[in-house]
Amino acid sequence: MNSMHEVIEKNTGILIVLIILVISVAGLVEIVPLFFQRSTTQPVAGLKLYTPLQLEGRDIYIREGCMLCHSQMIRPFRAETERYGHYSVAGESVYDHPFLWGSERNGPDLARVGGRYSNAWHRIHLNEPRDVVPESIMPAYPWLARNVLTGNDIAARMRTLRIVGVPYTDAEIAGAKAEVAGKTEQDALIAYLQSLGTALKNTR
Ligand code: HEC
Repeated sequence: MNSMHEVIEKNTGILIVLIILVISVAGLVEIVPLFFQRSTTQPVAGLKLYTPLQLEGRDIYIREGCMLCHSQMIRPFRAETERYGHYSVAGESVYDHPFLWGSERNGPDLARVGGRYSNAWHRIHLNEPRDVVPESIMPAYPWLARNVLTGNDIAARMRTLRIVGVPYTDAEIAGAKAEVAGKTEQDALIAYLQSLGTALKNTR
């Protein structure tokens, strides 16, 4: 009995080719629709564009490597939603290039940290975390309070984001420099932190 099954099982070459084919097709069937689904490509209701100051803050967050200790992705498990709020959805990240979901959690998830603390708390915490959380292992970032933003390249950054689909208007880009010039890096980072997760806050 030389069934088709037997031929395939006894011939490793054919078996490998067929396995690759099956996995590729199955993968495409799962992945390709995500590029076109509303739930993964459209912003959630209430999602706002980052203001120029928040955008500066986001770039500082990236520069300082905050995502090496903080994720921004709440998983749909009870222990996580009880602690952090509504689980993260793709539509919250459509304006994030690159997204900062992260995979490392040496500190708490920050996806919904916006509004949890006052600006004053953040200032103390960024200057010296142990002044508000004695057992904290988070590094201090005192220079952020001293570095002053010029805003010289914020318009260029916003235009670049527009190319990849973030709908900034000409007027917003034109006014960006004036909005950030003279503010400190700490002001910008706090503005960014306070914006995190606010779109889904009320659906908790
Ligand atoms: C070495 C790991 C590490 C790095 C890097 C780090 N953090 Fe933290 N962060 C922590 C830990 C641990 C905590 C919890 C203790 C505390 O509140 O200080 C924390 C707490 C926080 C909190 C309070 C969160 C909450 O819900 O209570 C904020 C906000 C925060 N970090 C922001 C930042 C920012 C912004 C940066 C980058 C400038 C940063 N962290 C870099 C480890 C880190």
